[in-house]
Amino acid sequence: MDKPPLELSRDFEQALHLIEDEGRNVFVTGRAGTGKSTLLQLFRRTTRKKVAVVAPTGIAALNVGGQTIHSFFGFPAKPLTKQELKKRRDRKLYKNLEVLVIDEISMVRADLLDNIDHFLRLNREVPAPFGGLQVVFFGDVFQLPPVVANDIEAMRFQLEYQSPYFFSAHVFDDPLFSMDMMELNKVYRQDNRNFLRLLEAVRLNRVDYDDLDDLNSRYLPQFEAEDYYITLSARNATVDRINDAELSRIPLEEQVYPAKISGQFNPRLYPADPLMKLKLGAQVMFVKNDPDRRFVNGTIGKIVGMGKDAVTVQVEGPDGSPQKIEASPVEWEILKYKPSEKDPSAIETEVLGTFAQLPLRLAWAITIHKSQGKTFDKVIIDMGRGAFEHGQTYVALSRCRSLGGIVLKQKLRHQDILTDQRVVEFYEAHFR
Ligand SMILES: Nc1ncnc2c1ncn2[C@@H]1O[C@H](COP(=O)(O)OP(=O)(O)OP(=O)(O)O)[C@@H](O)[C@H]1O
Ligand SMILES: [Mg+2]
Repeated sequence: MDKPPLELSRDFEQALHLIEDEGRNVFVTGRAGTGKSTLLQLFRRTTRKKVAVVAPTGIAALNVGGQTIHSFFGFPAKPLTKQELKKRRDRKLYKNLEVLVIDEISMVRADLLDNIDHFLRLNREVPAPFGGLQVVFFGDVFQLPPVVANDIEAMRFQLEYQSPYFFSAHVFDDPLFSMDMMELNKVYRQDNRNFLRLLEAVRLNRVDYDDLDDLNSRYLPQFEAEDYYITLSARNATVDRINDAELSRIPLEEQVYPAKISGQFNPRLYPADPLMKLKLGAQVMFVKNDPDRRFVNGTIGKIVGMGKDAVTVQVEGPDGSPQKIEASPVEWEILKYKPSEKDPSAIETEVLGTFAQLPLRLAWAITIHKSQGKTFDKVIIDMGRGAFEHGQTYVALSRCRSLGGIVLKQKLRHQDILTDQRVVEFYEAHFR
């Protein structure tokens, strides 16, 4: 499972130059698999600036070793009004900061971004956009959108905002704010020209009948799932049903692996099952990158040995032959940025809580939502009654490295390809 070395493309160099040397506000976008998350981490590793990395969801934040937006800014779960944003006693942290990096910006709602803007003006005591802080956003607006929970919220949005997307935030209307937009062009996840063309057609909702036929060549109703195939489902209920059914089909005792939890760790942010039930033969997915590069976040395998604390996972090696990996518990940390006590101008991270568990989850199936950001070799796509979110089919198809690695449970139809017109307009205005 060794990863190929990073290519420092011209796009990567240019983006790093804009962010590091020019100090510009930048929105870095690009199709799925163009290395946005990889570039983000490269920037964080190499920058001389004081950076905070945040993301809209707990899973996304843990993925990039950052903090959720809500915990970093101390926002409650319920959206705040502008008047409710307060000056904080510990505002030194925000004053010391030089760059705010947000990953998965496509899932950040416009009102949340406006709150970040106001909060920073207030707490940095600088009456400029984002309190004069440099901001860098990473994401692809053609992937899954922000969540707008209920009808009242939806109505408020229609009154106050053009759309729930981050680009409709009012801060962008401030004449003092300017942002460069950069598109990464080379896809690293896939390399087949025809598949890339089909993915692009799905992304931009330009699929014609021939394209649909090409994609539906992967509709294989007789297909029996083999090892290392993961099902990506539109709905949670389907995922639970598949994982429960498959685990109970194995006629063996299950063994429970409890996590070791310390400090403050919100149960909603648990990165793995706190009471993980496994059986010999269970299909699992690694949910973290291995520092020793034996597996990555998304590697699929099968349990072939179970010890008291550790398990043996068999994965498919690069040449297709089975390889065994000893998996032991790993530790996740809930981090909090804070001003350094020794050097008041510096920023440190404090560990609020830790969660130690095997970096695995049952993985005969996961939701398309949870698959965002991941890479797989073999997937079964189960849309059930059909797609219901913008970008859902694109996210599902673009997880896989090749068209031949995809099996469709249902034929794709034109109505499964949903693209938000407001996203198309934003994209065409800035990138075409
Ligand atoms: N510069 C690079 N050189 C070599 N491999 C790369 C490079 N950038 C990314 N990759 C590889 O390509 C795959 C996709 O990268 P990454 O997850 O960063 O893309 P992404 O743009 O964030 O995708 P998504 O939109 O799906 O989140 C990963 O396996 C990654 O290791
Ligand atoms: Mg990514």
